[in-house]
Amino acid sequence: MEEMKEQEVISMPRIGDPAPEFKAVTTQGEINFPSDYKGDWVILFSHPADFTPVCTSEFMTFANMQERFEKANCKLIGLSIDGLYSHIAWLRTIKEKIEYKGMKDIEVTFPLIEDIKMDVAKKYGMIQPNEDTTKAVRAVFFIDPKGIIRTIIYYPLSLGRNFEELYRVVIALQTADEFNVATPADWQPGDDVIVPTAGSCGTAKERMETADEDVKCYDWFFCTKKLDKEKVLGKILKK
Ligand code: BEZ
Repeated sequence: MEEMKEQEVISMPRIGDPAPEFKAVTTQGEINFPSDYKGDWVILFSHPADFTPVCTSEFMTFANMQERFEKANCKLIGLSIDGLYSHIAWLRTIKEKIEYKGMKDIEVTFPLIEDIKMDVAKKYGMIQPNEDTTKAVRAVFFIDPKGIIRTIIYYPLSLGRNFEELYRVVIALQTADEFNVATPADWQPGDDVIVPTAGSCGTAKERMETADEDVKCYDWFFCTKKLDKEKVLGKILKK
């Protein structure tokens, strides 16, 4: 019986898995996930607790960037194992009282899930008992329009997330899908992208000789090509 409990707590969805389904009460009404979000990219993220400083800085930052995520067809959904009234009071305090790094009057309009029983948090491996048994870690799930988990990032309680990196992930995943490429270290729109090498062989010289002129090969397994920023953003961002 104890063993069963432990297994339930550490259930961890993986990249490529369908996002676990759930129904939940949120600050924006009930949601049915992922079916309510078919056709959208989603960032489902957890935070340890309402009325805590790192989480407050994160919510203000995320809410301040929400329009950019919306333009990239990406919806935000937060979660903590606090109750709805705590969420509402915390978000009201943020809006009415907190001025931080030039951000003020910040209204969080994306849904924040109440998860007192930890049902959703457990399904998504957000409770990591060696970090904390009663708080969710800072988990970030990137879920595609078909409801498939495409990237997962976990941070401990003490470490606030880098939201520009989360935005970069959304754009890079969509770029990989739209243009059938991969993105190298530190990639940003406008940087060269990696051309798939599956099925290719030969030396860099041979690949260079047969490649388009905008392709650059560093060796037979490592070729990049230019992909204009305007082309990337023109495809991904809503007009
Ligand atoms: C915070 O958000 O500040 C926080 C929450 C839980 C543990 C540590 C820090």
